[in-house]
Amino acid sequence: MDLNAEKVVVITGGASGIGRALADAFGRSGCKVVLADVQEDALAQAVDQLRSEDVDALGVRTDVSKLSDVEALAEQAVDRFGAVHVVCNNAGVAASGDPWSGPLETWEWTMGVNLWGVVYGVRTFLPHILAAGEGHIVNTASIAGLMPGFSAAYDASKHAVVALTENLYNTMQTAGLPIGVSCLCPAWVRTGIIDADRNWPSELGAAPTADIIQETMQGHVRRAIDEGMQPAAVADLVLGAINADRFWVFPHPDFVQLAMDRFHQIGAGHNPDPPENIPGMPPRSEIIAEVMAALEPATTPDPSGQAN
Ligand SMILES: NC(=O)c1ccc[n+]([C@@H]2O[C@H](COP(=O)([O-])OP(=O)(O)OC[C@H]3O[C@@H](n4cnc5c(N)ncnc54)[C@H](O)[C@@H]3O)[C@@H](O)[C@H]2O)c1
Repeated sequence: MDLNAEKVVVITGGASGIGRALADAFGRSGCKVVLADVQEDALAQAVDQLRSEDVDALGVRTDVSKLSDVEALAEQAVDRFGAVHVVCNNAGVAASGDPWSGPLETWEWTMGVNLWGVVYGVRTFLPHILAAGEGHIVNTASIAGLMPGFSAAYDASKHAVVALTENLYNTMQTAGLPIGVSCLCPAWVRTGIIDADRNWPSELGAAPTADIIQETMQGHVRRAIDEGMQPAAVADLVLGAINADRFWVFPHPDFVQLAMDRFHQIGAGHNPDPPENIPGMPPRSEIIAEVMAALEPATTPDPSGQAN
């Protein structure tokens, strides 16, 4: 699909990171841009900056985990611009908290934003895109949607997004509808995702704290993200996929190879065996040793000189 001044694009999670870079890229193509985000200060700043660059931009405070918010977003986008052609269901969070013994809210928040946000986005905007005559839906999953290893709730939410997005593509093809579908599966990208807890909703109580394993991992993940791909490069790949009507958007081919290795293990009926080396991270054996050391009870020196 051609991206030009006639096209209206809605981007959730558009105030920072990949969503913000998408807004810049669509704006450069001349499109009108609607940014939806729960973080109001960043949203206002993003819209101001886009307008200062002559992009016709609208910001709508939206919590994508709430259907009424997503419906209000669609209404405001159509009121302002008359149509919607492209929707990027991109808002996402990664929550702290032990998935099996920590608060259930870790799952509720992650699933609410990462999965239900995408479901609401697709269901709400599909009729509008159909009414516009042509369009494209981009769902941001993650490489964690093809190989688990980040955290249980995040991995589960992203696997679900990959599955529903592939299903959506097949449905659009079968029905012969003029709506393209793409699934974005990045690995490390230089964004604020590691600090996603900044948007923890107060109605869910206190934000869960990291368990020992997460604490150990966090430094490594933060560094990998800080050294990751620039969001602008990811955005360029997404726009290229829309222009070429490409389903998969894989910014990190080395991670795709790891996912393929996993599927070979699955095909052979082998038990899960996570890779020893993941790009950007220390070897798995080193991380396990670090976690074991962190789990060991602290040994305090005994003033008598005897070990305790
Ligand atoms: N950064 C990475 O390494 C990476 C890797 C794979 C996938 N992703 C995915 O990319 C997407 C974008 O994340 P990012 O990396 O740019 O992080 P980010 O934190 O920089 O951006 C996420 C945006 O989503 C917004 N948001 C959070 N909760 C929301 C809600 N309930 N409703 C509306 N907006 C909400 C945030 O305010 C923020 O502006 C996410 O779906 C994430 O899971 C990121």
